[in-house]
Amino acid sequence: MKVLVIGGGGREHALAWKLRQGARVTEVFVAPGNGGTALDDQLTNVPITDIVALREWAQKEGIALTVVGPEGPLAGGVVDEFRAHGMRIFGPSKAAAQLESSKAFSKAFMQRHHIPTAEFETFSDPALAHAYVDKKGAPIVVKADGLAAGKGVVVATTLAEAHEAIDFMLVDNTLGVTHNEGGARVVIEEFLQGEEASFIVMCDGKNVTALATSQDHKRLLDDDKGPNTGGMGAYSPAPVVTADVHARAMREIIIPTIKGMEKDGIAFTGFLYAGLMIDTQGRPKTLEFNCRLGDPETQPLMMRLKSDLFEVFWAATEPGSHGRLDTVELEWDRRVALGVVLAAHGYPLSPRKGDVITGLPKEEADAMVFHAGTAEADGKVTTSGGRVLCVTVLADNVKQAQARAYEVTRGIQFDGVQYRRDIGHRAARG
Ligand code: AMP
Ligand code: GLY
Repeated sequence: MKVLVIGGGGREHALAWKLRQGARVTEVFVAPGNGGTALDDQLTNVPITDIVALREWAQKEGIALTVVGPEGPLAGGVVDEFRAHGMRIFGPSKAAAQLESSKAFSKAFMQRHHIPTAEFETFSDPALAHAYVDKKGAPIVVKADGLAAGKGVVVATTLAEAHEAIDFMLVDNTLGVTHNEGGARVVIEEFLQGEEASFIVMCDGKNVTALATSQDHKRLLDDDKGPNTGGMGAYSPAPVVTADVHARAMREIIIPTIKGMEKDGIAFTGFLYAGLMIDTQGRPKTLEFNCRLGDPETQPLMMRLKSDLFEVFWAATEPGSHGRLDTVELEWDRRVALGVVLAAHGYPLSPRKGDVITGLPKEEADAMVFHAGTAEADGKVTTSGGRVLCVTVLADNVKQAQARAYEVTRGIQFDGVQYRRDIGHRAARG
């Protein structure tokens, strides 16, 4: 069976690496892929990003199964395009992907279906937005409505910051974010306190299976300081998601979401990722939905997954009114997996490209370097994006995982490399 993974980040490298271990898998293609997928002689990069061109190529190549990594192609309707031509693809339709691609859609959805989330209002008129912030006071959270690669959220600790964020997103629209009906819109919401976790499930249109728990580090610098990023590291399991929190998240958030989507006539298929804020009493609220796997959470998750991932996707995409996820089981390595992201000079605002990477180690059973923003030419690997690599390891506990991950990390060099020294600190505490 030939498999196609769409995307070119660390998440897609990890998915492709895991898929190529499938017993029935003969070839794995990655579109467009990166330096790491180029170097792996069991993976083949395909330099196509246009959705229709990709579907045409996949049909000609006889691709049996396609898996979509990033939100961009999902919001662009790649699943609808492949399905319309009778092809198996795992991911949500364009309509379902609005859970991520529109904050206003997802907040209204949560309100309608009584899914716990922060109190909020949506604005396109800056004057009304400013007035609302003055009424509510700080801290308060301002979010651009549309895909902004993790950069469209300002957690304002002062009113001045909140006003500035409104002007930045709504008046100047510096981010260039537009929502589905065009124009700029912001969601302003209540500031929630607690600890964050990534709660990710797979859904085949009816059956829901939770992945192992995970947590990422969103801020650039140690001690969770500095600007928000796409994620500077992650680990699995996440101790904050106790059995009780897990049960609540399923009962109060995930199941009502899947049922709510079905009721609204938009059955959800694919990965559903709820960003949770868990308060000191263990009550989860939804910060956001993503309609895909997390990056870098996927890298440690794939290290821990023992099941044949191809068979899981194959069951999930079985033709019919829904898939057969109920026939497969996800088996996880009991050990801890932890990933440290190595980012480029200037990340997140203006990552530099073209720095030569040296010291990349060979793949080992307990350590894998997943590539993200890298390019390869004649065996030479250079940086080509913000998040460059994710060093991911398996170990018996968090402390040992940290020691191993940083040992591997220190062996890799490129000019301007930035990484956090404290990945996993929350998990190591207990
Ligand atoms: P989002 O893209 O909505 O997940 O927001 C990005 C990050 O901003 C989250 O991971 C949180 O760290 C933070 N954040 C978002 N919404 C809130 C909120 N209502 N209260 C506190 N922090 C938030
Ligand atoms: N690591 C956060 C995300 O993938 O959205």
